[in-house]
Amino acid sequence: MKILVIGGGGREHALCWAIAASPLTDKLYCAPGNAGIADVAECVPITAMDFNRLIAFAQEKAIDFVVIGPDDPIAGGLADRFAEAGIKAFGPSKAASELEWSKGFTKDFCADENIPTGRYRRFRNADDAKAYAADHPLPVVVKADGLALGKGVVIAATRAEASAAIDGMFAGSFGKGGHEVVIEEFLEGEEVSYFVLSDGETVLPFGSAQDHKRVGDGDMGPNTGGMGAYSPAAALTPYLENQVLDQIVRPTIRGMAKRGRPFKGALFAGLMLTKDGPKLIEYNARFGDPETQVLMVRLKSDIVPLLLAAADGALKTVDARWHEHTALTVVMAARGYPEKPEKGTEIKRLDKAAQLDGVQVFHAGTARRQDGALIANGGRVLNVTAIGRTVADAQARAYRAVDEIDWPGGFCRRDIGWRAVAKEHKH
Ligand code: AMP
Ligand code: GLY
Repeated sequence: MKILVIGGGGREHALCWAIAASPLTDKLYCAPGNAGIADVAECVPITAMDFNRLIAFAQEKAIDFVVIGPDDPIAGGLADRFAEAGIKAFGPSKAASELEWSKGFTKDFCADENIPTGRYRRFRNADDAKAYAADHPLPVVVKADGLALGKGVVIAATRAEASAAIDGMFAGSFGKGGHEVVIEEFLEGEEVSYFVLSDGETVLPFGSAQDHKRVGDGDMGPNTGGMGAYSPAAALTPYLENQVLDQIVRPTIRGMAKRGRPFKGALFAGLMLTKDGPKLIEYNARFGDPETQVLMVRLKSDIVPLLLAAADGALKTVDARWHEHTALTVVMAARGYPEKPEKGTEIKRLDKAAQLDGVQVFHAGTARRQDGALIANGGRVLNVTAIGRTVADAQARAYRAVDEIDWPGGFCRRDIGWRAVAKEHKH
């Protein structure tokens, strides 16, 4: 088959790496891709939001199957556009992906379907929101509706912080996400990412991971897109996973089908494991980044038939097999990330890192300079990924690989996996 992957981050490198290994793949393109993806796919210089050119390209090359990575084109209706053009694509419709792009929609949906999540209220003006927040227990969570580039959530420890966040959101500081604000109960517990594939009806469990959202060691500093992850997330025991499937994921898939918006694609549940059981923090209508990097190195099955089955309504006929081992990925980011990442710094000795046993280096924001040198071209730049018998083992291998890389312009957290490593030491 001829396959086109859309996106150009670490998630898409991991997807391309897995798709390229499939015997079903005759030719793989990626738009726009990055310097690492160029090793496994032909990169096409079309951005993920340039729908007309993506469709024209897919038609010209007679692409058999498209896999959409990022949230923006999904929320913008790219899957619908491919469907109209008669091209098979993996990724939910715009209507189904409202689970990600509207927090208000998702909260109301959870209330209707009895899905466990934090208590909440939706507000369309700042005064009502502030009045409600004024006697809400602290901390209180303030969220802008809509995609807000990961900046739409403020966990306010004081009333003043809550008011400032509400004012900021209505004043549009978080982009067009700011016309509605959701105020939510703070959920306490360990956070995990949980993935399934769905074809609109059937659910195929697709693994768990734990991300590390804060930029600094010890979970300090500002939120980011994710600084590292490991899989599986031991905190999500088989018992809890069943609870998540029965109380959260399956009711969601049924509820969306009932509303005439069948969810076909990767559904990513951000969960808090509270003392009262797992609760939904939010949904994403796509794979996670960097979670996909660790899922792909653990996936033993060919990914292509699984993605095809999700698109074709045939998930009942497939299953997914996984390596028992743990995978862990360390995100290397450009100095200045997340506020102002420095571009253009040179990265050396990646080949040395990649040669280590059990190590895969996925690229996120990388590019080639005219002279062929590898340079940083974004905030999150590399995902140094390793597999090991335990989290501690995978962690040691990943950091050994990180230490081989010569990139003075980059940095990473040194403690990815700390919660799980601490638990392993206790046993
Ligand atoms: P979101 O954009 O909804 O994923 O929120 C970003 C991060 O904020 C989440 O990954 C959580 O770490 C945190 N968060 C969001 N909502 C809550 C909540 N109700 N209680 C505690 N933490 C939350
Ligand atoms: N790593 C979190 C996300 O992909 O949104």
